[in-house]
Amino acid sequence: GTPQTRTPTGAPTGARADANGQQGKYLTTSQGARLRDTDHSLKAGPRGPILLQDHHLREKITHFDHERIPERVVHARGAGAHGVFEGYGTADGVTRAGFLKKGKQTDVFVRFSTVLGSRGSADTVRDTRGFATKFYTDEGTFDLVGNNMPVFFIQDGIKFPDIIHAGKPHPDREIPQAQSAHDTFWDFVSLHTEAQHHTIWNMSDRGIPRSFRTMEGFGVHTFRLVNEAGDTVLAKFHWKPKLGVHSLDWEEAQLLSGMDPDFHRRDLYDAIEAGAYPVWELGIQVLPDTPDETFEGIDLLDPTKIVPEELAPVQPIGKMTLNRTPTNFFAEVEQVAFHLGNLPPGIDVTNDPLLQTRLFSYVDTQLTRLAGPNFSQIPINRPHAAVNDMLRDGFHQQAIHAGVAPYRPNSLDGGNPSVAGDADQAFLDVPVTVAEASKVRASPVSFEDHYSQVRLFWLSMSPVEREHIIRAYTFELGKCYEQAIKERQLLSLANIDPVLCAQVAAGLGLPAPEPTVPLADVTPSPALSQIGEVWPGD
Ligand code: HEM
Repeated sequence: GTPQTRTPTGAPTGARADANGQQGKYLTTSQGARLRDTDHSLKAGPRGPILLQDHHLREKITHFDHERIPERVVHARGAGAHGVFEGYGTADGVTRAGFLKKGKQTDVFVRFSTVLGSRGSADTVRDTRGFATKFYTDEGTFDLVGNNMPVFFIQDGIKFPDIIHAGKPHPDREIPQAQSAHDTFWDFVSLHTEAQHHTIWNMSDRGIPRSFRTMEGFGVHTFRLVNEAGDTVLAKFHWKPKLGVHSLDWEEAQLLSGMDPDFHRRDLYDAIEAGAYPVWELGIQVLPDTPDETFEGIDLLDPTKIVPEELAPVQPIGKMTLNRTPTNFFAEVEQVAFHLGNLPPGIDVTNDPLLQTRLFSYVDTQLTRLAGPNFSQIPINRPHAAVNDMLRDGFHQQAIHAGVAPYRPNSLDGGNPSVAGDADQAFLDVPVTVAEASKVRASPVSFEDHYSQVRLFWLSMSPVEREHIIRAYTFELGKCYEQAIKERQLLSLANIDPVLCAQVAAGLGLPAPEPTVPLADVTPSPALSQIGEVWPGD
C-alpha cells in the first residue's frame, strides 16, 4: 500500500522556515507594514464596490497572478533532495577534482524527473528518468546532468527539438500526456534508427523504475578527465544505487498512475524523512584518451553507444547520501538550474555533438524559465565557493557590486595583475587538437551502426525481462493509428532480433518482416541485466 502519512511525529524532517522568507511573528505586507485584516478588502461601505486604493488587496492579488513560471520544456515533472557526497580518493590518479579526494565531503542537490510529461503528470509512466546532481564543490559547482539510461535517442543535438516534438503529445489533441504510445514517437524512432537503442531501454523494465532510490544514473556522454600532471583520460560516469536496480511491473505502474500519481516523490520523501537515506556510489569507466577517441571499436563520441562493463569495469570513486527533503518545493526543486558547463578543474567536455548542443541549450532555456541572467543568485543555485565575477546588472540582480571597474586589467579597483586568477587553482581547458577539416554537416561513419548494441541489450536480458520487452513494444505500438508506422518499426525489430520481431508482430497481428541488415554477432553482457542486484556485501 501507499503510505499517506508523513513521519510518525508529523513534521517533515527537512522543514524549517526560511529566515529570509518569514521573519517576525506578525503578518505584514511585502514592505513589512503590519496588517490588521487580510480577509476583507477595502470597500465603500460593507456592500459597496472595492476601492482601488486598497494596496494590500492589490499586492496580494497581483503577486498571486504571477506565481507561476514556465515549466521546463523537458523534464518538467520532478522531485529533488539534498545530501552529501564523499570522495574515496580513488580517482586522484586520473582527475585533479578536489571533491573526489579521500574523505572530502561536498553538499549536493539532486533532481529526479520524467522527461515528457507535464509538471502535473504521473510518476510511474514508461519514460526515461532524469538524474541531475549539483555538487557544490569548493572549486565551483559541478553539475552531472544524467539520465537513468546510458544512451540517448540521437547522435547530434540539432535533432533534439525533433525527438521532443515527436515524443510530446500530438499537437492537435494533446494526447497522450506522457507515454511513448503514439504515432509521432514511433514515426520518429523508426525513421531515425539511431534512436532504437534508447528505445529498447525504454521498452525494458528500466522504463518503469520502482523508485528513484533504485535507479542507476549515467552521465551518458564521454567526459575528459585531467590529473595534476595534465595527463588526460576519457571517462563515463555511473551512479549505482545501494538498494540495487528495481522496476515496477507494467500493471503496477498502471494502477499507481491512477491510485497515487505522486508515487515516486512520495517514496523519496517518505524514505528520507524516516531516516532510510538513499545511497548511490559514483563510478567511472576509465578509457584511454587516444586520438581517434574510440575504445574496442566503440566511438566514444557517439551517445547512442555504451562501453560494456566487461570491457571497462566501473570503478567506484565516491558515495552520495540523500538526507534532507526540500523546505520549499518551488524555491528548490523548481528553481534549480543545471548546466553541463558547470565543471570543476579536472573534468572537461568532449566533442560529442549531443553534449556540445547541451552546453548551449540549458542556460538558454533558463534565461526564459527563470526570467533573466541572474538565476545563479537564487539560493539553490548559489555556488558554495566564493564568487567574484564581472557580470553586472540585469533583471533580478541581488548583489550590490562594489567598485567602478568590472574589467581586467584595471588600475582603479586593484584589478592588476591582468590574470584572472591563480593559474594553479583555475580551470584549465584541456588543449585538445582539432583535426584540420572543412566545415561539413555530416556524422562520422562510425555513427552508422544503429543495431549491434541494441541486439547486445536484447540478448543480455533474462527470459522474464524479454517477455516484458515484447509486451511493452506490443502495447505501445498497438496504440498507433497508422499501420505503416507499425510496419516500419517491425523492420527495426527484425534488425535487432527475429524472435523479438516475430513476437511483437504476432501481438500486433502483422507479418514479421525480414531483416534489412545482417544480425550483429555480439556476446551477451551480464551487467546489462541487473534488475534486483544490490551492492555486493550488503
Ligand atoms: C533538462 C535540453 C539531452 C538530461 C533539459 C532542459 C533542456 C534540455 C532545455 C530544461 C532545462 C531547464 O529548464 O532547466 C537538452 C538538449 C539535449 C538534451 C538540447 C540534446 C542535445 C539530454 C541528455 C540527458 C539529459 C543526453 C542525459 C544525459 C536532462 C535532465 C534534465 C534536462 C536530467 C532535467 C534537469 C533538472 O532536473 O532540472 N534538457 N537535453 N538531457 N535534461 Fe536535457
